[in-house]
Amino acid sequence: MVSKNKVFKERTSRDRGVIENSRIMEMHLYPGNQCNRDCDFCTVFGTPKGWYQEYTPEHLDAVLNTVMVNSLGTIKFYGGEPTLNTENVIWAIAYLREQGFEGAIVIYSNGIQAQQLLDILHADPLGKTTASLNYSIATGDGAPQMPQKSLKLLEQHELENPGAIAIGHPDIVDSGRGVDPFTGEETRPKNNPKCPHCYPVLKSDGTFHACPFAVESDAPHFQLGTTQTNPETVAENFREFFHWLDTVHEPYAAANDLAACTVCGNHLDELPTPEYKE
Ligand SMILES: C[S@@+](CC[C@H](N)C(=O)[O-])C[C@H]1O[C@@H](n2cnc3c(N)ncnc32)[C@H](O)[C@@H]1O
Ligand code: SF4
Ligand code: SF4
Repeated sequence: MVSKNKVFKERTSRDRGVIENSRIMEMHLYPGNQCNRDCDFCTVFGTPKGWYQEYTPEHLDAVLNTVMVNSLGTIKFYGGEPTLNTENVIWAIAYLREQGFEGAIVIYSNGIQAQQLLDILHADPLGKTTASLNYSIATGDGAPQMPQKSLKLLEQHELENPGAIAIGHPDIVDSGRGVDPFTGEETRPKNNPKCPHCYPVLKSDGTFHACPFAVESDAPHFQLGTTQTNPETVAENFREFFHWLDTVHEPYAAANDLAACTVCGNHLDELPTPEYKE
């Protein structure tokens, strides 16, 4: 599908499920679903009344023990909306760098608070923090578009620093508020029969969750451990989650002709949990 924005490019996706020496290549950080929007398709039920729990040394240490910390590793901040808590995000980036994290950092943002987003990008001493914008809010397809002032500021930054700000995928998955309330173009991809096999999440309540889209689900199928769990066990549990996706989840979705995320949203009671350690 051709993007409606000509300045921001889609990021090319990397290999899925990579684990080396018990370290996972990428990790998402999720501090809650507090947001300055409440998109009708939002996978995490984002809302101004949502929750936010600050990043702390304890749980950033847990991510540093679990993710690859060399230049191959990537830590992705999302939410909710990261620019609502700029100070805490800037502190967290500084902490990760002080502790020796050399990889890339990505900030998922709706871009409405454009200056705050640029402040976050500029705060990284290694200059390896980039942004990924919400496709619907950047283009106005499926959500009210961000203010033109914000859009122009972000486009200008991307034109001057190519690759600094990407645009997210146009796909809408059936998770959280899901595909039914979605009002964007009919041609936007929906109801994918296969799971995209995302990297896991450390929530700032101290739990590791297997899926960034289903992160508001408390189902035991997604619980990989906590900040107190041995990091090797978290990595093994993540590998087991992928095994479960391939051997239990995907055959069930195919047999029942369901979209992959619909199975996670509405049918987990019918599926055994992955065989996790601890
Ligand atoms: C949950 S948002 C959080 C960060 C920020 N508020 C934003 O909108 O970019 C992260 C990404 O998930 C995407 N997203 C939200 N709901 C989705 C859905 N139902 N299907 C696919 N992507 C979705 C958003 O477009 C955004 O790119
Ligand atoms: S998609 Fe992003 S901007 Fe929209 S409600 Fe969810 S968290 Fe907020
Ligand atoms: S199929 Fe399940 S695990 Fe995969 S992205 Fe959808 S909700 Fe997440």
